[in-house]
Amino acid sequence: MPRRTEIAKLLSEKPIGTEVKVMGWVRSFRARRFLILNDGSCFQNLQVIVDFERFDEALLRKIQFHACVAVQGQLVESQGKDQEVELLAENIELLGACPADEYPLQPKRMTMEFLREHAHFRMRTLTLNAVFRMRHGLAYAIHKYFHDNGFYYLHTPIITANDAEGAGEMFHVTTLDLACVPKTEDGQVDWKQDFFERPTNLTVSGQLEAEIGALALGKVYTFGPTFRAENSNTTRHLAEFWMIEPEMAFYDIHDNQDLAEDFVKYLISFALKHYPDELTFLDQRLRNEEQHLPKDKRRPMGLIEMLEFVLAHDFVRITYTEAIERLRRSKPFKKGRFQFEPQWGADLQAEHERYLVEKEFKKPVIVRDYPQQIKAFYMRQNDDDQTVAAMDVLFPYIGEVIGGSQREERHERLQQRIQAMGIPEKELWWYLELRRFGGCPHSGFGLGFERMVQFITGMGNIRDVIPFPRTPGNAEF
Ligand code: 4AD
Ligand code: MG
Repeated sequence: MPRRTEIAKLLSEKPIGTEVKVMGWVRSFRARRFLILNDGSCFQNLQVIVDFERFDEALLRKIQFHACVAVQGQLVESQGKDQEVELLAENIELLGACPADEYPLQPKRMTMEFLREHAHFRMRTLTLNAVFRMRHGLAYAIHKYFHDNGFYYLHTPIITANDAEGAGEMFHVTTLDLACVPKTEDGQVDWKQDFFERPTNLTVSGQLEAEIGALALGKVYTFGPTFRAENSNTTRHLAEFWMIEPEMAFYDIHDNQDLAEDFVKYLISFALKHYPDELTFLDQRLRNEEQHLPKDKRRPMGLIEMLEFVLAHDFVRITYTEAIERLRRSKPFKKGRFQFEPQWGADLQAEHERYLVEKEFKKPVIVRDYPQQIKAFYMRQNDDDQTVAAMDVLFPYIGEVIGGSQREERHERLQQRIQAMGIPEKELWWYLELRRFGGCPHSGFGLGFERMVQFITGMGNIRDVIPFPRTPGNAEF
């Protein structure tokens, strides 16, 4: 009895004429003859030829969609033109039945909404299978990129006492009994009795701690989960998402932009080089999806074409002030088609970002030097005293994929800003001390991992590029 071989190994080594054994899930069983198996080791399937007269009728009936089987037989050159090798089944063993009359998934088109409700099965579909293989590949590429470029992976805490972004969108972490919260004499929550003897939350960003690392190790990055209790039910927001945050000593805002562009281009070229099967499938899938849309709603390019296009062009770099000017001169603004008026001092809305990228420049755009009142306290103030050295990288269909900045390294300036924004200074004492003791100019940014995976896979909803999405009202699996 041969030992089990992974399908990936069989398809690459093609040991024709040998006896092999495979295990996998049934993708289809056409004409009770062509059994298509996938075991997850590669995106391709193995075709198994079944001579139904040789097998028990009761067994054959159980070879249903997504059932799990072990098949032993001889690997031969394929008669068909779709594959080079196939397996002639000599022995079939049912490892796990999958009764079609009860199984919620069907071998036909299912909506993404339906699949989300069956997150324990959805990775078995071709689409989600391709997406999660790609997600893995990109995670690997991120570590490889930074390692090869002299960065150190720094693990920043998930439980923190700070609100790095100052947006107040935090999930509390506590062991207090919520039914009976201890109070101080003046009626406030008595945090002294809590586990950490102070209020704590799940981190919204590892940046502040990454800065500690950068001022010692030079170049560091974080790659971990971040949490935001923003109540936005959009196709771009999750309550739990993964962020990559490089932080570099001696980098100014321009070095920061160069790194951001080089980094995301590396990820795209990695995907094109190492995941051609998945991309070909996802490209075709997107075409099928868009077939039902009116022409002007379809993407002007296919998925792969789009990725190659992004690689081939420099990102446009403009200031926020120029972005506002361009928006105010734009057709959709003049025709009253923007829901929000582009106005100096207000944040760019998704519709503005997408206009700039998809219509005005037709390329990724990096916008920098935003008004200080709409950005976080730690960003470096520019000489105009109105803007800060912030940068957002905007992508087609996605909008903002990266947010970053040069950090305010001048102690006094930073302290003033913290006070002006009403942030409790005592919570940031260590952050301020980094400016008093051996500080230096430094910069960094955060890439939203899921948004990048979305861009590369062409998935329309961020919930379909993370295995178990967390959104308002959803934490089932
Ligand atoms: O722009 P943000 O808020 O920047 C920071 O958190 C900085 N501390 C990063 C830094 O400079 N080290 O978030 C960075 C990126 C966004 O550009 C976006 O891609 C993603 O994180 N992001 C989200 N992704 C999914 N769901 C959400 N709710 C997100 N919020 C931000
Ligand atoms: Mg941002």
